[in-house]
Amino acid sequence: MVTILINIKELVQVRDKNVKKVSGKEMAELPTIKNAFLAIEKERIINYGSMEEIPSYQSAMIVDCKGKMVFPSWCDSHTHIVYAGNREQEFVDRINGLTYEEIANRGGGILNSAKKLQNTSEEELYEQSSKRLKEIIQLGTGAVEIKSGYGLTVDAELKILRVIKKLKENFQIPIKATFLGAHAFPTEYKENKDAYIDVIINEMLPEITKENLADFIDAFCETGYFSVSQTERVIDAGKKHGLVPKIHVNQFTSIGGLQASVVKGALSVDHLEIMTDDDIEALKGSDTMPVALPSCSYFLSIPYTPARDIINAELPLALATDYNPGSTPSGNMNFVVSSACIKMKMTPEEAINAATINGAFAMNLSDEVGSITKGKKANLFITKEIPSYGFLPYSFGSNVIESVYLNGKRV
Ligand code: NIG
Ligand code: FE
Repeated sequence: MVTILINIKELVQVRDKNVKKVSGKEMAELPTIKNAFLAIEKERIINYGSMEEIPSYQSAMIVDCKGKMVFPSWCDSHTHIVYAGNREQEFVDRINGLTYEEIANRGGGILNSAKKLQNTSEEELYEQSSKRLKEIIQLGTGAVEIKSGYGLTVDAELKILRVIKKLKENFQIPIKATFLGAHAFPTEYKENKDAYIDVIINEMLPEITKENLADFIDAFCETGYFSVSQTERVIDAGKKHGLVPKIHVNQFTSIGGLQASVVKGALSVDHLEIMTDDDIEALKGSDTMPVALPSCSYFLSIPYTPARDIINAELPLALATDYNPGSTPSGNMNFVVSSACIKMKMTPEEAINAATINGAFAMNLSDEVGSITKGKKANLFITKEIPSYGFLPYSFGSNVIESVYLNGKRV
């Protein structure tokens, strides 16, 4: 049966299927149709247009959207939602004056989460993670990437990736899995870091390939974490196993990880809080999507990604949450879009493009989600009655989403 959304005040992000991403000045344009209808059949968008031209459908299910807007779901291309417990104590420690770096150096941070996860069963980890996934779906996310990286042993990394696989099987939403064994060095490898890289390459990756557990490979390329050459080793090994690189770079320092990732054909480079002119130059002419994570900047009080410099250089930009227990315990893409406008001086049009079509590109999901396009999945949300699409980022902290649809069905 066909489902038709009628009297849509404004249908947002309507695109032809050949548009895979938007860059530079194109980001300021957000194509919409006012007073629109949208038709869905067999999980997919089959038609849309102005209410004046609505065809007659037999035995359709009608949803009246008077006064409300319809958006394609948010595409969150960077999360770490499979983790155990939380790091609330470190949050309080930071309030009391410790830095994120100081906490990590005394064995907190990623290693703290890894210890918790190693002691949590796969079933329990699935329970905790599926709650987070349900939460973000209700906040409008309709496609998501999830990383491993809080295991740091062969067994624990596999445990995370198996949980992601189970989430893929049990949830309607497209999920991409990223192997991030190179997230931090376990304490026992502190003096022999290359030996841990050997574990990643010779023990973790072959098992991951055997069970077909990952789509992408990631590394935390940062001072005190993985050097550029260690990151390159991990990328090369991942590529040999068919995994596409998506790399954490330039969160605290600019050390050349961005350039190395671009040269190696990374699908995305993520974080980018600290960007030099050379970093921006390196992105030009590449197909690598820069991804900004403003909730992380907010939570850690670190600089925001210089979105204006990136967009003014005619580059594209995507927005994602980074949902994780240490630097961003929030998976709210609405807050991300608001923060991008408020703190990074992106216009509502730029921020919405960055959180939908460009986010889809950063997950290799451009053909499935990210815009209102014939043939794409009917993953979308209907807003409450709002005066304009810009009201969504403007009314930060409020939830303007009234209902969420995945594969054409209300969830
Ligand atoms: O993307 N930067 C590296 N990894 C995570 C946070 C790690 C943590 O503190 O748990 C991030 O921000
Ligand atoms: Fe991250």
